[in-house]
Amino acid sequence: MCGIIGYIGYQEAYPILIKGLHRLEYRGYDSAGIALINRENNLSIYKAKGRVADLEEFSLGKDISGTVGIAHTRWATHGEPNHINAHPHYSQSENLALIHNGIIENYAVLKESLSRKGYVFQSDTDTEVLVQLIEYIKTGNNTDISTAVQLALKQVIGAYAIAVIEKENPDLIIAARKSSPLVVGIGKNEFFLASDATPIIEYTNQVIYLNDEEIAVIHRNEPLRIVNLSNVEKTPQITRLEMSLNELEKGGYPHFMLKEIFEQPRTLRDCMSGRVNTGNRNIVLSGIVDHREKFINCRRIIILACGTSWHAGLIGEYLFEEFCRIPVEVEYSSEFRYRHPVIHRDDIVIAVSQSGETADTLAAIELAKEAGAFVYGICNVVGSSIPRNTDSGSYTHVGPEIGVASTKAFTAQVAVLVMMALSIAREKKTIPEKRFLAVLSELSRIPGKIETILQQNGYIEDLSKIFTYAHNFIYLGRGYGYPVAIEGALKLKEISYIHAEGYPAAEMKHGPIALIDNEMPVVVIATDSTTYDKMISNIQEIKARKGRILAIVNKSDCKVREMADYTIEIPDTEECLSPLLSIVPLQLLSYHIAVRKGRDVDMPRNLAKSVTVE
Ligand code: G6P
Repeated sequence: MCGIIGYIGYQEAYPILIKGLHRLEYRGYDSAGIALINRENNLSIYKAKGRVADLEEFSLGKDISGTVGIAHTRWATHGEPNHINAHPHYSQSENLALIHNGIIENYAVLKESLSRKGYVFQSDTDTEVLVQLIEYIKTGNNTDISTAVQLALKQVIGAYAIAVIEKENPDLIIAARKSSPLVVGIGKNEFFLASDATPIIEYTNQVIYLNDEEIAVIHRNEPLRIVNLSNVEKTPQITRLEMSLNELEKGGYPHFMLKEIFEQPRTLRDCMSGRVNTGNRNIVLSGIVDHREKFINCRRIIILACGTSWHAGLIGEYLFEEFCRIPVEVEYSSEFRYRHPVIHRDDIVIAVSQSGETADTLAAIELAKEAGAFVYGICNVVGSSIPRNTDSGSYTHVGPEIGVASTKAFTAQVAVLVMMALSIAREKKTIPEKRFLAVLSELSRIPGKIETILQQNGYIEDLSKIFTYAHNFIYLGRGYGYPVAIEGALKLKEISYIHAEGYPAAEMKHGPIALIDNEMPVVVIATDSTTYDKMISNIQEIKARKGRILAIVNKSDCKVREMADYTIEIPDTEECLSPLLSIVPLQLLSYHIAVRKGRDVDMPRNLAKSVTVE
């Protein structure tokens, strides 16, 4: 949450920073701000409540010159999302400006102590405390800015990615991280820094991912220096970015979300490429091959995730139990980390995360590692914190997902879990060879089947008109359809702000059935499954209460389509792969409802793509 960016070099910083902020806006969009040092060494800060576009408007006619600057787009934690709480924050003397992504947990104690020393605070933020602390240390110890940052960070408890500039030192940016991401881009006579690589890629593909408690001393015209909090010099590890600029554009679609929904046939092919091999009838996931014995002998699998990734994890539970006969627990990372979980050394923990930066999942991983479990990551963002903090893992390879509502990352997470379950099951001999081959070959057909679902986009758009003014929705599913139901409900509520509940269909009788009347749309995942007939009984129960039924059915279905008010057809497939198909029309349905309601689909209110705070 919050995006930070910095530039130092020979070009004008403002356009680079603004463009970068647009790329990072998915991380938070409550306010935006920029700090620049111009040729006369004036340090100016401009900030605005709202979007980056509001900041651009505010900056019109102001002096935006300068070849060094830092900028921030905010997802509010401490202090309401207004102009004063927007970053960057000045120190008391206005000699320093600082941006921050994270939370300073002991900010209250630090603030009180600084207040007693005469420091006056303008904002309600924890960030302002940090910039004042740095200034206090710098002036009190008569030290340079880099040392002052080191000393200040030693006093800080919490998470941070920060960048600081100093009026009297226009050739320098100091940046540091702990538990919040920070990437430094190395250009020719210029440096970039950002929360992720997306603002950097068009200038350079040479980057350094900072590690926790590392400080980057970024001096114009000098090689980059990295030190830790104790001033021990580190050797910068340069990584080459594989991302392409096209992946960051909407490519003719009105929203990133729609583009990402439509990308799924390709992203799933990319995800399976080199892994699913129908020719030699094999699945090769190097993370599994390298740790074969661990997976074969593990006592239990614990899946840790948040949000949509947690829904993918639930599907993983069904897959591992069905195919591998390994007991599985799926946990919200935020609950797991605080409830004294029992973790065994022969447990395998699988952390699922699109961003690879979710704070609760990172903390839960640490707990699992301390208890001696083997930790496997399923992540999308290459080089992010989770892949760097796990023992092994698989990337989903779907490219940048920018729409805040996760779509292509979800289907790829499920595909990785399918590949894992199948390959472990084969190693454990818990799956008959014939079945393995049947699922394997069907898996390779999934991208093509998604293409046929996407052809119904116009029809689903028409259907969305019927439901745009509903105030509540219920989504029901059973078995593999249950995680799809809760993911479908989440998609609808996060982007359209319509209340939606996802429920296991049979559990409906224990409460939600009371909500059903002739105004309530009920979306049922009624595809072919072992519980298909039971689902029909549940549909009868809804019909008896006059609920309006929209059913996701298979092409070959004849019973449910007779009963439902509306249906969306998906191709027939293996039950265990059905989530990869049935979620797609639900993604489209939420998208079109949200568009019809005039919502900001890619940046829904109050949400952020990457939740790097607890
Ligand atoms: C946020 C995002 C969701 C995402 C969740 C977990 O809430 O808006 O789309 O599913 O975080 O994020 P992760 O990056 O760990 O998958």
